[in-house]
Amino acid sequence: MDSELQELQESALAEIRESRNRIDIENLRVRFLGKAGAISLLSENMRNVPKEDRPRIGKQLNELRNSVARELDKRLAALETAAEAEALVGIDETLPGTPFRVGSMHPLTLLQDRAVRILRRLGFALADGPDVETEWYCFDALNTPANHPARNDSDTFYLPDGRLLRTHTSSVQIRTMIATRPPVRVIGPGAAYRRDEIDSTHLSQFNQLEGLYVDRKVSVADLKGTLEYFVRELLGPEVETRLRPHFFPFTEPSFEVDIRLAGINNGAWMELLGCGMVNPPVFESVNERRGDQAYDPENWTGFAFGMGLERLAMVLYGLPDIRLLIENDQRFLAQFVQ
Ligand code: PHE
Repeated sequence: MDSELQELQESALAEIRESRNRIDIENLRVRFLGKAGAISLLSENMRNVPKEDRPRIGKQLNELRNSVARELDKRLAALETAAEAEALVGIDETLPGTPFRVGSMHPLTLLQDRAVRILRRLGFALADGPDVETEWYCFDALNTPANHPARNDSDTFYLPDGRLLRTHTSSVQIRTMIATRPPVRVIGPGAAYRRDEIDSTHLSQFNQLEGLYVDRKVSVADLKGTLEYFVRELLGPEVETRLRPHFFPFTEPSFEVDIRLAGINNGAWMELLGCGMVNPPVFESVNERRGDQAYDPENWTGFAFGMGLERLAMVLYGLPDIRLLIENDQRFLAQFVQ
């Protein structure tokens, strides 16, 4: 056994010295140290070693295993150092590096972040929902009649299974109320989809920012005050705001908010968002799905609003064509450094 150990030690060290790369090293590791490797086989032979010799041979086997492992590690480190040095041959490390281009935020992201920051200061928390929705969340629960034009195949992207790509982020209102009891104060920024012909002012996918506030005794005054504050913070103290009566099935009364500001839209009024007081049938749908009266319209009122981001980005940044926002032309994007 002694001489076998001696021989194994010598041949292992010789082979390690001759190894040329990481693969050689790993093969040797398996051959000598692996489960079925040479040293393990010798350990199994301990049975045949006379009892009085076992402690000594055992110790030698251990030392052999350790020294082979050590040598393998040393050789691997040496090979890697040599490979690195070789890779650097002919490279002049005193040359200046390639300039690294720092990216910038997409203008829509900048605008959305600004809007979200303002609303968070007012206590609105972020909420979201899926882009692929059921008709119930997108239309039924929002009091939208079965014959409403928005439900047409020609206006909305339907999946073969009957689900759809949400046509507005108002479905997030429903998801939020089903998940949480009032009071709620949330904003849900996200994508919406409509089967619009794509041109300089329309995309089939765009971005909205939804808001919902439900509490006791929320009134139109709260809606107006909140949105006027929001618009002033977003566009500056000079901006003018007006509320125009409108119609949405899920709010009653409903309004559109227009803004006017020198330098934007040639100083003409411009539609900014839709809003209104949550229509009681919406609360009833939510209660029915929840199986309780958490949103009892006798006790709770609320307002909601939904704002498109692309059109606002266009007037704020003076963009002649909405498609600039999705083309990812670096010459365009690089202009929006924060
Ligand atoms: N969902 C409406 C739209 O897409 C906007 C809206 C949201 C109106 C919330 C009222 C309340 O046009």
